[in-house]
Amino acid sequence: MYHPEEWQSSGRPVGRMYHPVNRSGSGCPPLDRSGRMYHPEEWQSSGKPVLLPIRDGIMLIRRTEDVDCQMSFSDSLYSPSSRLSRSLHMLHTLVKRLTKQHLYWTARMSGLAFPPVDINYRYYQPYYRRLIALKNHESYTDWPQDVKDGFDHVIKLIDARDNYVETMCSKHGKVLAGISEFTKTADWAELHKSGKTKYLLPSVMLTGHVEGLFLKFLVSMQQAKYVLDIGMFTGYSALSMAEALPADGKVFTCDRELYLAELNRKVFDSSPHGKKIEIRLGDVGDTLNALEKDGIQINFVFLDAGQEQYDTYLDLLLDKKLLAPRGTIAVDNSLWFGRSYLLDDDSMARFNKKVKDDPRVQEVLLPVRDGIMLIRRTEDVDGQV
Ligand SMILES: C[S@@+](CC[C@H](N)C(=O)[O-])C[C@H]1O[C@@H](n2cnc3c(N)ncnc32)[C@H](O)[C@@H]1O
Repeated sequence: MYHPEEWQSSGRPVGRMYHPVNRSGSGCPPLDRSGRMYHPEEWQSSGKPVLLPIRDGIMLIRRTEDVDCQMSFSDSLYSPSSRLSRSLHMLHTLVKRLTKQHLYWTARMSGLAFPPVDINYRYYQPYYRRLIALKNHESYTDWPQDVKDGFDHVIKLIDARDNYVETMCSKHGKVLAGISEFTKTADWAELHKSGKTKYLLPSVMLTGHVEGLFLKFLVSMQQAKYVLDIGMFTGYSALSMAEALPADGKVFTCDRELYLAELNRKVFDSSPHGKKIEIRLGDVGDTLNALEKDGIQINFVFLDAGQEQYDTYLDLLLDKKLLAPRGTIAVDNSLWFGRSYLLDDDSMARFNKKVKDDPRVQEVLLPVRDGIMLIRRTEDVDGQV
């Protein structure tokens, strides 16, 4: 395949999709008859894409009707009127934080230490945080101009890739947009201080647009009926996955925060897909045991809470047959802000290793956001000879 720079020197059209795989007709995204690449908006009317930042980018495309359950959206609980001013305020805060405090080289979850969620996809990468930290180092002003320019260029390249991925994915609906907006602008520190939430909940926990859409794709490809969402937070993953379920499907979503359970019930009810969501308030372990007692078998599990306990949850899912035959588990935060591959003794690194050595399952770790590991039973992945 041509390298992008060769395209330019060979006079091939840059800005249009010229890709040998496409020309042979087997790749994506498709071109129209004149060789023009479809614009994302057009994609959205004819199908649903999600662009995954894996290797050189993999775009999954499915027919809209196969991804979206057929229901129209009602108005979101969140009114758009006050959003503009909040967004501007957020942008201002973001810029201030970026330049003043620089991004922390810390992998610890402490709400205020995180920048607003808008930039969280690249913020998960330690090299990005390191670059920003260096750029904001006091000695930066003394650096030669060409080095500074080089730095800015690298940061721009990373930003551009991240933004491009987001732009090329199908848009999310109004209720999901509202959840995202609320999560970014809520004063989580105050909610915790005033006792509304038991724990300090950082907004960066939000899965958000690209990951939510990917989960929706996985659920629709799995043709799942029962989904388990472990770690509800503001409900983004729960609603994303519910959108792909048939009318008699169900997402069981669990969290230990009463505040979130009450808030999210109202939000879910403002979506026509909300009735497919059942909130289970309490500890993850208790929820898993209760579901098992109810005899429910889950087709798709999104594991996104209690990282220290992931191995216990995995055993419960596999041994107690909570995971239905041919079911899939998607584990979030598998790269754990870089800890998994940078620290010798880390809970996520231990979990990943345990899964890798476990003959019961096969796994693939995808570098999407903070890392998503897909796990399936070995017999469901390997074909029969
Ligand atoms: C990373 S957030 C989930 C994000 C969510 N999936 C989304 O799409 O935005 C983790 C959530 O799990 C909850 N949580 C953490 N540990 C828990 C536990 N042991 N039992 C129940 N809930 C827990 C937290 O309150 C938090 O809301």
